Amino acid sequence: MAPTQYIAPVTDSTAIFRQDLFKSKVLFCTGGGSGICKAMTEAIMRHGANAVIVGRKLERLTESATQLSKATGSQCIAAQADVRQPSQLKDAVAKTIEKFGRIDFVICGAAGNFLASIDGMSENAFKTVMEIDTLGTFNTVKATLPHIRASHGSYIHVSATLHWKGTPYQVHVSAAKAGVDALSAVLAVEEGPRGVRSNVIAPGPIGETEGMSRLSAYPKEGGEKKEVQANSRYPLGRIGNLKDVANAAVFFFSPAAENISGQVIAIDGAFEHLRSFQ
Ligand code: HXC
Repeated sequence: MAPTQYIAPVTDSTAIFRQDLFKSKVLFCTGGGSGICKAMTEAIMRHGANAVIVGRKLERLTESATQLSKATGSQCIAAQADVRQPSQLKDAVAKTIEKFGRIDFVICGAAGNFLASIDGMSENAFKTVMEIDTLGTFNTVKATLPHIRASHGSYIHVSATLHWKGTPYQVHVSAAKAGVDALSAVLAVEEGPRGVRSNVIAPGPIGETEGMSRLSAYPKEGGEKKEVQANSRYPLGRIGNLKDVANAAVFFFSPAAENISGQVIAIDGAFEHLRSFQ
């Protein structure tokens, strides 16, 4: 008889880590206006950090910054920048320093995605995603590094698991995220001696995100909630939740990870390791 499928619980980081863990710290998060990066920002703010969320769409960013401040009691401001433009990122960093005086944590999360085959994708489409994901990460590191050196701070880069195998229609994102993983490893070894850490969070399928609704038939609002149903495709019983990624970010920025750098951690409930014989 098959064992009953276990379903991993979803626990809030405030039930695990001290609420003042990040008091007086400052987070700079690209892509923080929505989805996974917004969820990570919220969790870090719930532990006392102030935050700057960075993206292209000022209206959405401003709305998210207001929501995040209200929900957490910490301060969040919006800074408009396209991560492909180094001068815009420098302005966003200057705004952060003017407002909060320091940067302790950086999340490089701005990303682009769509489904297209190699044959059906233009050169410019491939280049666009490489520039947002990989060059954008490099630009963000360059703009923030002096401040992260000063605070002995830490980077989290948001990658993926889809490039670990050949994922159809994802050649642009696969190439871009492989570059992000490599960039983080180099950053970890070059800057480790200055007290800077760099790690990669690689979310697997995460329910109710823009990425998932674009890439799969994951049901939209009002549809069947897959994450609360046991699903044997996931060894830990369920699709990923935004809190899973947020909790990992809290861990990586916390002193619990003070000797952890250069790592890529999948947040996927062992999904990528399951080889089914059926
Ligand atoms: C084919 C496309 C396309 C599509 C755009 N292009 N959308 N090609 N299929 N659906 C092409 C355009 O035709 C153009 O090429 C080139 O890409 C640039 O498009 P623009 O719209 O001019 O670029 P831009 O305004 O900079 O927008 C970039 C974008 C953007 C990537 C297309 O729409 C975007 O970022 N959207 C996604 C946001 C998102 O989903 N974020 C979550 C990422 S999740 P030509 O040749 O015509 O000039 C993630 C991880 C997923 O990354 C993991 C899941 C498991």
